[in-house]
Amino acid sequence: MTDILAELESRRAAARLGGGQRRIDSQHAKGKLTARERIDLLLDEGSFEEYDMFVTHRCTDFGMEQQKPAGDGVVTGWGTVNGRMIYVFSQDFTVFGGSLSETHAQKICKIMDMAMQNGAPVIGLNDSGGARIQEGVASLAGYAEVFQRNILASGVVPQISVIMGPCAGGAVYSPAMTDFIFMVKDSSYMFVTGPDVVKTVTNEQVTAEELGGASTHTKKSSVADGAFENDVEALAEVRRLIDFLPLNNREKPPVRPFFDAPGRIENSLDTLVPENANTPYDMKELVVKVADEGDFYEIQEEYAKNIITGFIRLEGQTVGVVANQPMVLAGCLDIDSSRKAARFVRFCDAFEIPILTYVDVPGFLPGTSQEYGGVIKHGAKLLFAYGEATVPKVTVITRKAYGGAYDVMASKHLRGDVNYAWPTAEIAVMGAKGATEIIHRADLGDAEKIAQHAKDYEDRFANPFVAAERGFIDEVIMPHSTRRRVARAFAALRNKKLSNPWKKHDNIPL
Ligand code: HXC
Repeated sequence: MTDILAELESRRAAARLGGGQRRIDSQHAKGKLTARERIDLLLDEGSFEEYDMFVTHRCTDFGMEQQKPAGDGVVTGWGTVNGRMIYVFSQDFTVFGGSLSETHAQKICKIMDMAMQNGAPVIGLNDSGGARIQEGVASLAGYAEVFQRNILASGVVPQISVIMGPCAGGAVYSPAMTDFIFMVKDSSYMFVTGPDVVKTVTNEQVTAEELGGASTHTKKSSVADGAFENDVEALAEVRRLIDFLPLNNREKPPVRPFFDAPGRIENSLDTLVPENANTPYDMKELVVKVADEGDFYEIQEEYAKNIITGFIRLEGQTVGVVANQPMVLAGCLDIDSSRKAARFVRFCDAFEIPILTYVDVPGFLPGTSQEYGGVIKHGAKLLFAYGEATVPKVTVITRKAYGGAYDVMASKHLRGDVNYAWPTAEIAVMGAKGATEIIHRADLGDAEKIAQHAKDYEDRFANPFVAAERGFIDEVIMPHSTRRRVARAFAALRNKKLSNPWKKHDNIPL
């Protein structure tokens, strides 16, 4: 009996070594942790339950039958993050470069199926040379099995991908279909075709980092939602994000203990909006000052900075925040910001996370590059996302809410539940100057007259009261009491029930 127990222990020890000490050392030398070290950091101590530790590949080509490391390059199972269950897979680069074989894929699929059945998020830690070259089409089939599950799990359980090494070829499409992608700076990259192929086909000379590093994907392509300095920071931040999210689409997000009075008054907000309507201010200040304990988890911080997206808590409950940022492009909506915010709004709606919208938007960005790029269709994504969302929606207009952008930004007309405005709000078809130049074209040569018309227009429309008179704004509130008003609004909406007409699915303008 003791022999059998000892054999299990020795098999386990061998499996835990993955591709062997030499390759583990090489992984460490690159500043990367091993698959198991990463799982240990991601999960609560001692909570990991591993499955399929002894699975091996079945390939007999290219001498593969001689090397059959237990686990086949991926560690899978479940554990807890602050006591809440998640499923995890972590690719082991020390075993065939973490490449995906048929059995490696089956291990991932198994925990994805369990996650769907049992209603818990899936976290994928990716570090892989892609399809296991020796296995050919069996490996491609494995990828497609994973893709199919990503698709079915979308909107059912949260899926998070952390890219912690190479992720190339079609392998990028599994992370691409998950809710959030995070990367590790300097040690991870994602691309469909690598620098060599790029050179052959387009004659462009580009490094892996330039083509698909963390900076590229957080700042240029928006493929990734965030990037962290190293493995340790990335995993700690994923734990922080999980704390904001529900386990599945039928559960409410967790309610955390909070130590911040819901009625907290923030007098500094009374002077946040500058006297001059064209002077920018930092909308993030409002986001942070209203949040419980000032805790804000920003999504896509480095991309389309003219809109802010992320999670806060109010009275311990998760709230998704979307906010125009007057510091960048005057906070206008454009292609990038519309896409960024639309995706965020849809995530929140899929997982029953209420949405708080702060509005200071002068309109959509004009220009040929925007029109040629399809701002009509991309802008419509955000409009569509807000309009279809059935979660509680609370909106605060701090300053400008002009034109179509007023409608888009969770207005009353898109089923905004509670729509507030600060006294500094200006809700109109457009700014006074533009409006005057159109409706008083005949006076364009007379600067004095134009200035008077602009002033008249401002006096009439540059305020929240015209909208409030119609009930489009439920209440004009004091900036200093925003936290209390917003928290109470969401409290009143906790039992909100709203559903859309039956349909197979919608046809959002993709
Ligand atoms: C099998 C692989 C492998 C792969 C790496 N290895 N990639 N084994 N299949 N795809 C093995 C190597 O043989 C080596 O084994 C070990 O992993 C580490 O690889 P190195 O090259 O020594 O490491 P490094 O220098 O860090 O380079 C990592 C790498 C490189 C950039 C990922 O290995 C690489 O370019 N691999 C091939 C990438 C690729 O073209 N994959 C297919 C993409 S197409 P030893 O025994 O020496 O430790 C694809 C299609 C998916 O994925 C389609 C889905 C629809």
